[in-house]
Amino acid sequence: MNEIKIFCPATIANLNCGFDVMGLCLEGIGDEMIIRKVAEKGIRITKITGADLPLETEKNVAGVAALALLNSNAINGVAIDFGFEIEIHKKIKAGSGIGSSSASAAGAVFGINELLGRPFTKHQLVDFAMKGEAVASGCEHADNVAPCVLGGFTLVRGYNPLDVIKIESPSEIYAVVLHPHIEVKTSDSRAVLSPTVTLKNAITQWGNLGGLIAGLYTKDYGLIGRSLNDVIVEPARKHLIPNFDKVKNVALQNGALGAGISGAGPSIFALCKGETVANTVAKSMSDAYADTKIPFDIHISKVNDEGTKII
Ligand code: HSE
Repeated sequence: MNEIKIFCPATIANLNCGFDVMGLCLEGIGDEMIIRKVAEKGIRITKITGADLPLETEKNVAGVAALALLNSNAINGVAIDFGFEIEIHKKIKAGSGIGSSSASAAGAVFGINELLGRPFTKHQLVDFAMKGEAVASGCEHADNVAPCVLGGFTLVRGYNPLDVIKIESPSEIYAVVLHPHIEVKTSDSRAVLSPTVTLKNAITQWGNLGGLIAGLYTKDYGLIGRSLNDVIVEPARKHLIPNFDKVKNVALQNGALGAGISGAGPSIFALCKGETVANTVAKSMSDAYADTKIPFDIHISKVNDEGTKII
């Protein structure tokens, strides 16, 4: 096999109480990439469609992630005397809050690993992809790349060393994502955050994160809903998103388990039990966003348990 085409899904990071540690993988929304084995050593980005992104390997998240994999000493001790070309066909807008850079980083390492005969585990791929993600956001975090590579809900238990856990996903969970067509750079969205938190807020946040994990494992939708709260990051960021409070409130009033900022924004997400509720919630969120006059699109998705895959 010398060439593969892959689907790299969009993701929702943070899920309110899990800033930089929780994420989930979406169905139906994602980029496509083509990875090709070539005689010339190294990594070359040969084509990008759908976005204005750098072709230079060292400046591109996919290139940096791919280099992290190739520069790893652990490819079964075998020297790689060939190289790879990467084509990126972006469908996820940069700065949308649904893991655009992560999809490129995850796709690059997933595709190269397949062409190499899978010397690395998916968990190792998350580590390489995180190096690419850092190019876009200015800091290494795996809450988008982990669900993009592994699928489902994921928890980053720790960063040093990286310790990622795939969490059981209740079958009736649907995600609604409203994507306003404005760009919020992750680096800007991180710059508004305070480096310190109060003990009171920390207690609330880690109680909720434990509750979310317990709710997912026990399929306790009420507990999932009670836990989808963020007292630390959302209050600092929500001013970046027009009509955020209005959209969140109507989502909750119409039966969403919880709602919040998707990743670094500006997308707003809601989690729902069942497709019927998800449709009602999506309609209410669309209506509540309409008066901003900002164009947007809205997606309803089940949790994608597979993650990045060959198509
Ligand atoms: N956890 C990250 C953030 C996700 O909220 O800044 C976006 O990359």
